[in-house]
Amino acid sequence: MWFDENYHRAVGVRDSSVVVVGSGGRLGSLLAGQLSKRHRVIALDRSDLDLADEDSIRRVLGAIDYGWLFLTAALTDVDYCETHPREAYVINAEAAGIVAEVSAEKNAHVTYLSTDMVFDGSNAVPYRETDPPLPICVYGHTKHDGERRVLAASEGNLVTRVSWLFGPSRPGFPEWIVRQAALCECPALPEDKFARPTYTIDLVEWLESLVFGNADAPASGVVHLCNAGTCSWQEWGEACVDLARMNGMANLADKIRGITLAEVEAFVASRPLNSAMYTGKFSKLTGIRPRPWSEALRHFVIQSGQFMV
Ligand SMILES: NC(=O)c1ccc[n+]([C@@H]2O[C@H](COP(=O)([O-])OP(=O)(O)OC[C@H]3O[C@@H](n4cnc5c(N)ncnc54)[C@H](OP(=O)(O)O)[C@@H]3O)[C@@H](O)[C@H]2O)c1
Repeated sequence: MWFDENYHRAVGVRDSSVVVVGSGGRLGSLLAGQLSKRHRVIALDRSDLDLADEDSIRRVLGAIDYGWLFLTAALTDVDYCETHPREAYVINAEAAGIVAEVSAEKNAHVTYLSTDMVFDGSNAVPYRETDPPLPICVYGHTKHDGERRVLAASEGNLVTRVSWLFGPSRPGFPEWIVRQAALCECPALPEDKFARPTYTIDLVEWLESLVFGNADAPASGVVHLCNAGTCSWQEWGEACVDLARMNGMANLADKIRGITLAEVEAFVASRPLNSAMYTGKFSKLTGIRPRPWSEALRHFVIQSGQFMV
């Protein structure tokens, strides 16, 4: 196991172990796997720690020594949250506060994964960390409350907002839309909703850089993280289907039909129209410039063998 003694001496007051809460999820499983190449990782999934149960949080975290914690677990189904607001509030907000409180007692640094859905989507330009959140759905409200609680527990804690996650550990939007294009002659996606996709492979690197890149001071406050370039949901879908077609997948729909967000009857929760986020603060902190989402998508397809015949 890799262990840099100088580094750990520099941060001296902290135990070197890293806890990942949510290691059964899309980001959490990848993050725990990647971090374990360089750190002692304690990976916790729902069967180890139930965020809906305060005693479980206090008992499990209270019993272990750690200096760093990533909270990736959440109730992420936006429409389910809308119809189960109390459950969403307990898991996304209250539990995050308890995790941060227990961690603060151990002087452990917490990184809370949040979302572009804390914004109302009315901005004409990408959102900056200084823009005031104004959630328009239960999920957004609960995540914003989670952010506040994590930052209130310790001013050294970090909130990272991400959007439209995709990557190798769990099927996500790219796999879903290609399946739709195979099943349906003319799938439809909103052409008036814009955001920036976030590749989990890149995101893990960015998180490591923010938290472990500067031995003297891990990043704190709010930082936006996503790949470069804004696209509509329709453009995002078309790019996935185009790549599948280029890789030889046959019998895919010719195009994705553009509709408005308001036309999607299946959505219970309101969603922000433009939730693209600006990542200049992250680049300033780390010197890293996120690659364009289209490049990240190609990398994902090649590395994972997705959409290859
Ligand atoms: N996915 C996106 O596009 C997106 C966009 C913006 C922000 N985010 C944020 O990024 C983070 C990671 O997202 P993701 O896509 O990796 O999420 P995910 O795949 O849905 O994983 C979330 C994990 O949380 C776990 N969980 C749910 N309720 C729990 C509970 N009561 N106790 C313990 N664990 C519980 C789930 O367990 P089970 O597997 O057992 O259900 C799951 O493993 C989340 O905080 C999310 O809010 C995601």
